[in-house]
Amino acid sequence: MLYKIPTIPGDGVGPEVIEEGKKVIEAVGDLEGFDIEWIHYDFGADRYLEHGELISEEELKELGQYRAIYLGALGDPRVEPGILELGILLKLRFFFDQYVNLRPVKLLEGVWTPIKDKRPEDIDFIVVRENTEDFYIGIGGRFKGGSSKVHLELIRELYQVKFDLDIETSSDEIGYQIGVISREGAERVIEYAFNLAERKKMKRVTGIDKANVLSEMYSLWREVFFNVAERYPGIETEFNFIDAAAMWFVKNPEWYRVIVTPNLFGDILTDLGAMIQGGLGLAPGGNINPDGTSMFEPIHGSAPKYKGKNVVNPIATIWAGAMLLEHLGEDRGALRIIEAIKDVLREGKVRTYDLGGNSKTSEVGDEIVKKMREV
Ligand code: IPM
Ligand code: MN
Repeated sequence: MLYKIPTIPGDGVGPEVIEEGKKVIEAVGDLEGFDIEWIHYDFGADRYLEHGELISEEELKELGQYRAIYLGALGDPRVEPGILELGILLKLRFFFDQYVNLRPVKLLEGVWTPIKDKRPEDIDFIVVRENTEDFYIGIGGRFKGGSSKVHLELIRELYQVKFDLDIETSSDEIGYQIGVISREGAERVIEYAFNLAERKKMKRVTGIDKANVLSEMYSLWREVFFNVAERYPGIETEFNFIDAAAMWFVKNPEWYRVIVTPNLFGDILTDLGAMIQGGLGLAPGGNINPDGTSMFEPIHGSAPKYKGKNVVNPIATIWAGAMLLEHLGEDRGALRIIEAIKDVLREGKVRTYDLGGNSKTSEVGDEIVKKMREV
């Protein structure tokens, strides 16, 4: 069996962590008897700065031949925030209609959680984040203003670069952005969440929203949730408002099984989820279109200040690689990776700085491969 898998290492630490992910997947291939052909794509800041190109229609079509893309991270301080994220990452998610953003939140043994007295069995659930609608659709505008001053200020603050702000502003300027939930869009992702709950024998699905305030869009979300829930009588259901969910994540994470959430709330909630499972260095994600081209990546960004230092934690990316293999039907291979990650973390000898160690990125990849080979 040969799998052809496009890789987009991207910016910052992306290439380093993807290198480890490839190493581990290749080792699984040896053990399970399949081959991998990696197809490299150089989307990211360097290419953008050199040629002004983000990603072309042709390349998108080409990528559409494959079932799963392996992505590192995008974002670079030399490029205005949003350009690479919107122009590449969100472009891919939208073009391939990857309507599910699957983000497991699982505390593994040997990993410290900031939540006092919680153990691995208490933090073990899955967030299904809607990935193509809500406030991410990109409809909005700015009016009556010398528009980009705020943006420039933001950049100056974020990256501490110094330049003059001599652009005219106007005090009655407005900016607005519209969020959309569609019946079909809600239905497909909520159905996915219920099917997942059934498949994984996780017998509770929690819907997240803010239907008490954003009542138009999220009442539709709720209505669809109830309709779908009726078809799954064996699964318990409930709703949490997003603010309450943030509280429960910290207070009683053991309550949750499968969570299904609109896009923006899911974005925020899964960073919180990553923290309670031990940090962004350990949090993987999958952008899934069950009938098309999906994409697997760590939740973390490109961490420019660590670029090229071989120090960041590659486990989120390696774990995303396991999700990729599971998506391709290589369940046993996926399990091998997860078990090896668990072994390495439990042992605690090889770990990167974020987990209190001083191992290199590449040493973590090597150790995971070694553990897989020992089994
Ligand atoms: C994520 C990221 C992205 C998002 C950004 C980089 C566009 O934060 O994958 O969670 O908002 O979805
Ligand atoms: Mn995010």
